[in-house]
Amino acid sequence: MIEILLATVFAQQEEPRVPTWKQDVHEIILSNCMPCHSSGGAGAFHLLRYEDVAGRASFIVELTRNGVMPPWKVDDSGLPVHHKRGISKEEIETIQRWIDAGKPEGDGAEIAICGGGLVIPDATGHTNPDTPWIIPAESAARWHKGIRDKRTFVLPINNPNPMKVTSLKFSTTAPRAVQMVCFVFDHQGRARMFDGWDPDEPGYEMMGDIGWVPSGAHGKIGPGSGVVSLPHGFHWEVPPNIDVVAETHFRPTGKIEQLSLSVDLFEDAIEGSRAVQEIVSMIRRIVIEADDDAFVATEHLDIPIAVDVIGITPRAGAECSGMNISSTNSEGTKQLLLSYSDWDPHYGETVFFTKPFRVMKGDTITSAWNFNNSDSNPRNPFVPAQFIDLARKTGVANFVLHVAPVQVEQASDLYEWNLSMLRKRQRAVQ
Ligand code: HEC
Repeated sequence: MIEILLATVFAQQEEPRVPTWKQDVHEIILSNCMPCHSSGGAGAFHLLRYEDVAGRASFIVELTRNGVMPPWKVDDSGLPVHHKRGISKEEIETIQRWIDAGKPEGDGAEIAICGGGLVIPDATGHTNPDTPWIIPAESAARWHKGIRDKRTFVLPINNPNPMKVTSLKFSTTAPRAVQMVCFVFDHQGRARMFDGWDPDEPGYEMMGDIGWVPSGAHGKIGPGSGVVSLPHGFHWEVPPNIDVVAETHFRPTGKIEQLSLSVDLFEDAIEGSRAVQEIVSMIRRIVIEADDDAFVATEHLDIPIAVDVIGITPRAGAECSGMNISSTNSEGTKQLLLSYSDWDPHYGETVFFTKPFRVMKGDTITSAWNFNNSDSNPRNPFVPAQFIDLARKTGVANFVLHVAPVQVEQASDLYEWNLSMLRKRQRAVQ
């Protein structure tokens, strides 16, 4: 009884003040939604002014409560990651209380929206702006099956010297149509060769893989985000005259869109910065019966050299329903690195950990993918459910681990081992 009384007294004392637009809600929307719901962003409309938000406030509460917005699919069970997107329960409740109070605007000045400083890139590449790719207003037939259209474009950098790339910034003339982009640096002109097969059309129809290297090996961005930035102290070693290959996934927006792309590369590696490599854990082929809703594929890699894992890029189609990757050390201790219990391929962007995770020589990396090849998977592109037999030499499903060897001298050993693993899986009869 006393407890209840005390609780009531506290509740009365701590009666929260009525939230207002200017004091509370604007800040919440700016930090969680503005990057996408403003000019040049991927969101379908602006969420900048009082009217933009007040007009759809209940819808906003509904979408944020059920986790649809802001889009973010990484589970909390893995390692902590940079740039985590998520609006807190308290923030959502503040918006709800604001609605209950009649959405007051409040007193005081609006928060100023800063433009960000002018940053000059070290190199830039772009597609030919005179021949944009035309995205039709209505979807192709494939769109209705849940498969977004994709096209791969070549963006020549023409860098005369090798570069130490620390981040990549992407922009497009059609931000709302572009859902996702996977990047690979190509120093062999292979993507140019594919592009040359159909000289009249910009880009080409295939994925952006370059030989053994899967697209996304140099980062992947999701809707609305335009920057891949390696954690401090790491860089990508890039030879002269590379092309940035951009596998671009887009969807119809209801009007004809002219798609041109550009990328800016930045080099601000610090003294002693370490070069990043890509280790690929993959399932090369999947064979799944129709209606099998619980097919699991796994791969184990015994890591031959101590490495720091700085981030991971996941890739799998919509027939995949969940995936995770973990590391087990010689004492049998297992650490979950990254997990998706509700995989959606459109939100599979690269994540970088807030702190690199060290894997010692002999530790095992285990990847597991769950496939739901039945009609109960709302994203399954194979409906009605049918027998699937898919193979790709860069993996039907994969995780690219972005790593740096602990001992710099072991870089070439690590590179050779990774290549041999990729070849072995390619030859393996599964
Ligand atoms: C990373 C980019 C991104 C962020 C951040 C983001 N959105 Fe969105 N939003 C989108 C995109 C893209 C769409 C279009 C729908 C789609 O394709 O998923 C969208 C659609 C919406 C819609 C319409 C949904 C529908 O079903 O019609 C609402 C409402 C919305 N967002 C609200 C918000 C709110 C509120 C926030 C912040 C809490 C937010 N969004 C943060 C990208 C984003």
